[in-house]
Amino acid sequence: MPRILALETSCDETAAAVVADGNTILANIIASQAAKHAKYGGVFPEVASRAHIEVIYAVVQQALSDAHLSLADIDAVGVTRGPGLPGSLVVGLNTAKGLALGRGLPLIGVNHLEGHVYSLWLVENAAEVVFPVLALIVSGGHTELVLMTGHSQYQRLGGTLDDAAGEAFDKVARLLGLPYPGGPSIERAAVGGNPTAFKFPRAWLEGTWDFSFSGLKTAALYEVKQQKPGRPMTAEATADTTPPDPALVPHLAASFQAAIIEVLVGKTLAAAQKFAVTEIFVAGGVSANQALKAEFERRAPLPVRVPPLGLCTDNAAMIAAAANFRYLAGQRDALDIDALPNWKLV
Ligand code: KG4
Ligand code: ZN
Repeated sequence: MPRILALETSCDETAAAVVADGNTILANIIASQAAKHAKYGGVFPEVASRAHIEVIYAVVQQALSDAHLSLADIDAVGVTRGPGLPGSLVVGLNTAKGLALGRGLPLIGVNHLEGHVYSLWLVENAAEVVFPVLALIVSGGHTELVLMTGHSQYQRLGGTLDDAAGEAFDKVARLLGLPYPGGPSIERAAVGGNPTAFKFPRAWLEGTWDFSFSGLKTAALYEVKQQKPGRPMTAEATADTTPPDPALVPHLAASFQAAIIEVLVGKTLAAAQKFAVTEIFVAGGVSANQALKAEFERRAPLPVRVPPLGLCTDNAAMIAAAANFRYLAGQRDALDIDALPNWKLV
């Protein structure tokens, strides 16, 4: 029964977790920096790495203490190696190296996106998963449609050509004058809004498994600034940061959310059919969106797994779950591995 201590610092959450046997969470600590970044409307990299340094040791100590364990009880240290912000990744990686070196523990570098996928193994009946599985990974930095044919075996079908789904939520939230992070803000604002009030575009990119959300974001911008689509935005309108009439915000939020969900669900279901998968995994921060989950459940003719709410956004339990599989498969990383800020899952 391996016990993995894992660290995650790829973006703006400083997280540590202890997971036993790949699926029993003994501790899961997340110190969010969201409040520090709110005034910038997004993550400010220097602020993020500094904040990680300030709390990482306390977060690790808290995880061990919550798990009622000491480092002597840990079998391996898992850590996010990438992708992510370089300065942030280095804080987690160096801390993990120090812990591994000090205790003679194996070090296991994990791809953050693989971590999101393995958040689905932290639920009860995950052992029953039969491959192939289709994974839709939707986060602030990524939108990837991946066929998973076995543990740690991925075939990339497609992904976003421009903005990630979460990034589109964050940018449109900002336009609407809603606070960062934008996903939860838009989801809340959309309650009671009419999803058909605004006709926002859906980029289907037929014949590919790719996505594009920049047109949708631009359409929202034109609507908010009340400019005519297809014409260049006037300089005055671009410079103007006034949010729209508050009465319109729920309708704009609901129409935007409906457009993004329709494409995510539509393309994922088409790929699921084409590749005859047994189930669909939806993971990453945007999978916390209850309207997305409901639409999958309404339309999908096959099982769709979404992580429990607290495990959708960045956490270290998912990194531990992925590290556990790699530990069992014999992966042992050298103590001089580098952070890989642009590391691709496949
Ligand atoms: O996975 P994550 O925590 O960090 C990255 O790896 O990027 O994802 C964060 C993203 C943000 O863009 C955030 O706005 C989005 O996930 N998000 C949501 C929701 N909760 C978080 N998007 C839509 N609806 C939500 N409820
Ligand atoms: Zn993430």
